[in-house]
Amino acid sequence: SFKSKLALLLFPVCILCHVFLCDCVDVCVQNRCDQNIQVVTKSKCHSCSLTSLVKCPDDYTKRQPEKSTRDCRYHITMALSVKGCSFECYKDTVEPKCCPGYWGNDCIECPGSAATPCSSNGVCSDGIAGNGTCTCAPGFIGTACEDCKANLYGPLCSNMCSCKNGICHSGVKGTGQCTCLSGYTGIDCDRELPACAALRCGPNSRCIEDMSTGQLLCRCKPGYQGDGTQCTSINPCLRSVCHANAVCAHTGPNQHVCTCTQGYSGDGRVCMPIDPCQTDLGNCTSGSTRCVYDGPGKSHCECLEGFEKFVEGKGCSVKDVCKPDSCHKYATCATVESGTVE
Ligand SMILES: *[C@@H]1O[C@H](CO)[C@@H](O)[C@H](O)[C@H]1NC(C)=O
Ligand SMILES: *[C@@H]1O[C@H](CO)[C@@H](O)[C@H](O)[C@H]1NC(C)=O
Repeated sequence: SFKSKLALLLFPVCILCHVFLCDCVDVCVQNRCDQNIQVVTKSKCHSCSLTSLVKCPDDYTKRQPEKSTRDCRYHITMALSVKGCSFECYKDTVEPKCCPGYWGNDCIECPGSAATPCSSNGVCSDGIAGNGTCTCAPGFIGTACEDCKANLYGPLCSNMCSCKNGICHSGVKGTGQCTCLSGYTGIDCDRELPACAALRCGPNSRCIEDMSTGQLLCRCKPGYQGDGTQCTSINPCLRSVCHANAVCAHTGPNQHVCTCTQGYSGDGRVCMPIDPCQTDLGNCTSGSTRCVYDGPGKSHCECLEGFEKFVEGKGCSVKDVCKPDSCHKYATCATVESGTVE
């Protein structure tokens, strides 16, 4: 474990510590900033004349000079209580604490280092009880809040990219500069090259420069297919991308979502028939019924041998096995358990 590796690493230090007879604990447990604290409590309420005889709870010390105050009531009998005295008791203890920027029992560094937790762009859940996750300031994202959210740039992730048909130099170190897609120009890549505008590319197509010839032509945008003039959204559902027991939804250009059909569970790429008998016996009452699988998502309850008359939620009743000659003719017959009469 991390702790044992740490102990091994610090072993020489500990030996040194023992040689010089110093307190090893603080050195061997890394990144701890234990705090000396005084826990204060009150003594039991008692008769004020007995203060010198009354002791503090275990481990606690009486504060000197003894200073008791008439501030409480104590019971003489169940029903009768009278005014009494109490005094302060204290105990010096050491509360284990991680140093700032460290978290958990082992006092591990917060993401982005202990000196700059969460890259100084968020708050780390630190301390022994912390979970070591960063809550990032607005605009920031990432495990250590090290990055800007999409389309933001600058050290504070406070600037918004303005590129229309281009790629923004975004991020903490970004400048916001736009690199235009072919066919576009301008600071924000919002102007079509005149030669491109003349081509009148369709809505799902874009003007690009042919790599080999340098000629401008219309090409379908990513996720679309066609000749460049007529471009249609590629529908992955036309290929069998989902499981046989799933439905496919065309959600965007070359995008789809698979959903298992009723009675099946899974992510849509794999769908497994649901056997209701596998969970809680399909809600069949145990002892008198059994669950029978009828196919994906379907089941029913059946009475066990010796039981009859299934009632939903109740189960089956013991089958009445009294026959005319089960008992003496002047006795009454009752079925006491499956197959047994009395
Ligand atoms: C971690 O702790 C923070 C604050 O204490 C809380 O908001 C967050 O949900 C916790 N995250 C996890 C994964 O437990
Ligand atoms: C069993 O009962 C639960 C809770 O009432 C319900 O959600 C579930 O669908 C039931 N299962 C079957 C197989 O009837």
